[in-house]
Amino acid sequence: MDTVVVTRRIPQAILDQIAAVASLRVWQEEEIMIPYEVLLSWVPGCVGLYCLLTDCIDEPVLSAAGPDLRVISNMAVGYDNIDVLACTARGIPVGNTPGVLTETTADLTMALLLTTARRVVEAADFVRSGRWRTWSPMGLTGQDVYGSTVGIIGLGRIGSAVAQRLQGFDCRILYYDPTPSSQAKELNAQYVDMDTLIVESDFLLLHCPLTPETHHLVDAEFLAKMKPTAILINTARGPIVDQQALYHALCESRIAAVGLDVTDPEPIALDDPLLSLSNVVVLPHIGSASVATRTRMAQMAADNLLAGLRGERLPFCVNLEIYENRSD
Ligand code: NAP
Ligand code: GLV
Repeated sequence: MDTVVVTRRIPQAILDQIAAVASLRVWQEEEIMIPYEVLLSWVPGCVGLYCLLTDCIDEPVLSAAGPDLRVISNMAVGYDNIDVLACTARGIPVGNTPGVLTETTADLTMALLLTTARRVVEAADFVRSGRWRTWSPMGLTGQDVYGSTVGIIGLGRIGSAVAQRLQGFDCRILYYDPTPSSQAKELNAQYVDMDTLIVESDFLLLHCPLTPETHHLVDAEFLAKMKPTAILINTARGPIVDQQALYHALCESRIAAVGLDVTDPEPIALDDPLLSLSNVVVLPHIGSASVATRTRMAQMAADNLLAGLRGERLPFCVNLEIYENRSD
C-alpha cells in the first residue's frame, strides 16, 4: 500500500479517512515536532505528506521523498515553511487551509490588542503578587482602543475580519496592502502608504504573509517612526519583526507595548530579553486554537491530501500553476 507521512497526531477520525487509502506513518509526539533528520528518513517513497507549519519542507525533503510524492498538505493557511517553487518545479500541488481559521485568528488578535492596551496581564500579576493595596487614580492606566487609529498591514481575510470587529470600537482604520482591498469601503478602512500608516497608528497590526518582502519589515527604522505611545501586535509570522530591534525600541520607550502570538524562533527562548519586559505579551502561536477551528483545519488538510492522492485538483491549492498544462 502507498505510504502517507503525517508529521503530528491529528483527530483519529480524520486519520482513519487517510488510512482507508494509504498506509500511515504518523509522528506520535504531541509536544515535540518531528526532527528534520527523522522527516528526511521517513519520506523516501511516500506518496503524500501531511505537514504542519513547524515542518521545514525544502528541496532536500522533496529530493529525499523522490518521484512518487503526489501531494503536500499543510495544516495551516500560511505556507512559508514550504519551498513552494521547488514543489511547483516537481509538479507537486501544495494545499493549505484558508478561510476556516479567519474568525478565530481575528478574535485572538482582538484579545492581544485589548490585553496590551489595557495592561491585563500586568494587572492580573499585580493582584497575584499581593501588590494591590488600594484603588489608585493613575495606577495601571493603559490606552483606549475605542476611538483610536488602527493601522493594518495586509487587509486580507484576517486583516478584514479584525477591521470588521473594530467597527464596534469606533476606530479610524488605516491599511496598507500591495493590492487595495475591494472590501475597504464597507470596512471604513482608508488606504495609505506604509509611512503614513506607521506614523499615524496607535495600534499597528500585522496580517501579511511572511515573504522575502515582509521579512524584518518591522525593523529599527520602522519602529523609530512609530508613536512612542503606539502598540504593535503580530499574529502573522515571527520573522516579519526584527526582535532585537523590537527589544531595543521597547527598552528606549520608543513604543509603548507589544503583543506577539508568533515569534522568531518558535518557541521563543526562555532567556529572550523580550520576556523580561512587563509591556510584552507573548502567546505560543494560538491564533487559530479553538477546538472547532483546529478540527476543521485538520479535516480541510485531509481533504486536500486525499484529492491529491486521487490525482484530482486540491480544493485549496497554493500553486495552481501546476495545473496549467493539465486537462483536469
Ligand atoms: P490573506 O487573506 O492572503 O491576507 C494577507 C494579506 O496580506 C493579503 O491581502 C496580501 O495581499 C497582503 N500582503 C502580501 N504582501 C504584503 C506586504 N508586503 N505588505 C502588506 N500586505 C501584504 O491571508 P490570511 O488568511 O489573512 O492570513 C495572513 C497570515 O496570517 C498568514 O499568511 C499566516 O502567516 C498568518 N496566520 C497566523 C495565524 C496564527 O495562528 N497566529 C493564523 C492564521 C494565519 P495579496 O493578496 O495582494 O498578496
Ligand atoms: C497559522 O499560523 C496558520 O498559518 O494557519
